[in-house]
Amino acid sequence: MESQVTEKSFVQRIQQIQNEFESELNQIKSLKDLEGVRIAYAGRKGVVSSLFKQLGNIPPEERKAAGQSLNLLKQFVSQTIQSRENSLSCRNVKQKIDITLPGEPHYTGRLHPLTQVLREIKLCFQNMGFSIAQGPEVESEYYNFEALNIPKGHPARDMHDTIFVDDNLVLRTHTSPVQIRVMENQSPPVRIIAPGRCYRRDTPDASHSPFFHQVEGLCVDKNVNFADLKGVILTFARHMFGSDMKIRFRPSFFPFTEPSAEYDFSCLICRGRGCRVCKGTGWVEISGAGMVNPVVFGYVGYDPEEYTGYAFGMGIERIAMLLFEIPDIRLFFENDMRFLNQF
Ligand code: PHE
Repeated sequence: MESQVTEKSFVQRIQQIQNEFESELNQIKSLKDLEGVRIAYAGRKGVVSSLFKQLGNIPPEERKAAGQSLNLLKQFVSQTIQSRENSLSCRNVKQKIDITLPGEPHYTGRLHPLTQVLREIKLCFQNMGFSIAQGPEVESEYYNFEALNIPKGHPARDMHDTIFVDDNLVLRTHTSPVQIRVMENQSPPVRIIAPGRCYRRDTPDASHSPFFHQVEGLCVDKNVNFADLKGVILTFARHMFGSDMKIRFRPSFFPFTEPSAEYDFSCLICRGRGCRVCKGTGWVEISGAGMVNPVVFGYVGYDPEEYTGYAFGMGIERIAMLLFEIPDIRLFFENDMRFLNQF
C-alpha cells in the first residue's frame, strides 16, 4: 500500500514539476521537441496524469485543495504548450519565404497635373503678397452677373452659356463673383487670388469642357494702375514659363472692368515663330483683365474716388496645356492612368 502524502508536500511537488517543465520548454527548438515535452507532461501517461493518480493518497480533508493546485498546473501546461506551438509554426512559415523572389512593386500616388499647376500659380502670387480667397460654385445671379455690372438682358450674359440650377441660382460661369464676395467682406487694401471650378453649357471638344478651372485675381488700393497689372502678369508669365516670356494686352470688353483687355503670352511651343498651337500668330490667348469698373465698387460700397483696382482671370487648364504640351482639355477629366502617370 502506498504511503500517505500530505497536501503540503504534494503542492511542493507540483511547483517543482512546473519549474522543470518551464526549463525544458526553454530548451526546445522545433515543433518536434515540443511534441516530446507535451507527451512527457500532458500525455496520457505523462507527469500530470500520474499526479492525478496520487490524489487518492492524500487525506480526504486536504484532497480538495491539492486537486485545485493540480488543475492549475494542468491548465498552465496545456496553455503554455499551445502558445509555444503557435509561435513555432509562425516561424516555420517565415522560413518558407523565398527571399530571392522579386518584391511586390508599390506604386506611389501623384498629384493631378491641374493640382500641380495650381500649386505653382498660388506660390507665385503668394510671393507677390496675394492671399487665397474662395467662393461657392453654386452662385446667385446677383454675384455671378448683377454685381459685376451684367444686368438681366445684357448681351454679355450670352457670352456665358449658363447652367441654371434654379430661379436666380446658377453654376458660376467664372470666378469673378468671388471679387464681389471678398470686397463685401473687407475694406481696401485687397490683394487676393481666387482659384476654383467654373461651369458653362459647352459641348466638350479638344478645347472646351463644361467645367474647367479659373484663377481670379483682384487688387484694390490707393493709386493702383494698369502698369501694376501688367507687371504682375509679366512676373507670373516668367515664373511659370521662363524669363524670356513676353506678354501683350489687346483692348477688349468686360462689363466689370474699364478699360478691359485680353492678354496673351508669347507662344512657348514655337517661341514666337508661329505654330499650330498659336495658329501661326506667335501668341496664345490666356484670359481677360482690366481696371475694376467704378460701377462694381458701387455695389460693394467702395469709394471709387479714393480707390482703384485691377482684376484678371486665367484658365488653369490653359496654362497646364501650354506647360505640358497637352493637346486636349478632356484628358484632364478622364482619369486615364496612362495620361496621369506622365506627370
Ligand atoms: N471673368 C472673365 C471671364 O471668365 C475674365 C476676367 C476676369 C476678365 C477678371 C476681366 C477681369 O471671361
